[in-house]
Amino acid sequence: MEDRLEILPVTPLIGAEVIGIDLSEPLTNHQKNAIHRAFLKHSVLFFRNQDISVEQQKNFGRSFGELHIHPARDRNGLEGHPEILYLNAGPDTSRVNGDEWHSDVSCDEQPPLGSILRLFEVPSNGGDTLFSSMYAAYDALSKAMKELLGKLSAMHDGGPNYIDRAKRAGIYDPTKVFPANPHPVIRTHPETGRKAIFVNKIFTQYIIDIPKDESRAILDFLFQHIAKPNFQCRFKWEKDSVAFWDNRCALHHAMWDYYPETRRGFRVTIKGDKPC
Ligand code: SIN
Repeated sequence: MEDRLEILPVTPLIGAEVIGIDLSEPLTNHQKNAIHRAFLKHSVLFFRNQDISVEQQKNFGRSFGELHIHPARDRNGLEGHPEILYLNAGPDTSRVNGDEWHSDVSCDEQPPLGSILRLFEVPSNGGDTLFSSMYAAYDALSKAMKELLGKLSAMHDGGPNYIDRAKRAGIYDPTKVFPANPHPVIRTHPETGRKAIFVNKIFTQYIIDIPKDESRAILDFLFQHIAKPNFQCRFKWEKDSVAFWDNRCALHHAMWDYYPETRRGFRVTIKGDKPC
């Protein structure tokens, strides 16, 4: 079975397309192992022509871990499926999900291992997702900068992002509290052992235990560094494309350049562990 899977890298640093698999079928051990190896090597995998049901998508996710329940699912839920995040952007949308570089729900104490997004409606043009390798971004730093960042932790807070979205959607509830947790600025991937930058524009608010202006300067530097095009690949969606990304070592950015057209899909997210 495994030999029927083809893994075609998109760039040398990040991204690969997987050919020869039908995600509506349960994975064989060979397929699961081959996908897992490719996932660790390429950080994001792409699949085409996967007309799968919500249950099949959840089963695919469960092959790699327990499914995560999103802390802001009340805005993007799908009835009867608490593990599904429904992404639905159209003419009435005032802000789309993931419109800046981020790692999904990095504000959680144990942020997600990975996310699996399938789009079943795509705009006639645009709506790509960009992915950036945080291994490559870390490797490109000077020794001195790696040493400095290796000693720092940063606060990731879901409030500013989720509250802004809830206000725009007219469902703001001031009693709702969102996760906020500190994480190391440089994390070690629990499976590959490689180091990766772990800050992002949507959730990371400040560096802990240093003055505010130093924190701002370091984050501003990191936010421009992680967005350099040489660490990136860009995925052009078709109907029923699936992307499976590793939130521990890759950031992503959903491009909202297709307004007022519609782009819709379901995301399943897999639980992760505490970054260290
Ligand atoms: C997200 O899951 O952050 C959104 C990704 C996308 O819509 O491409």
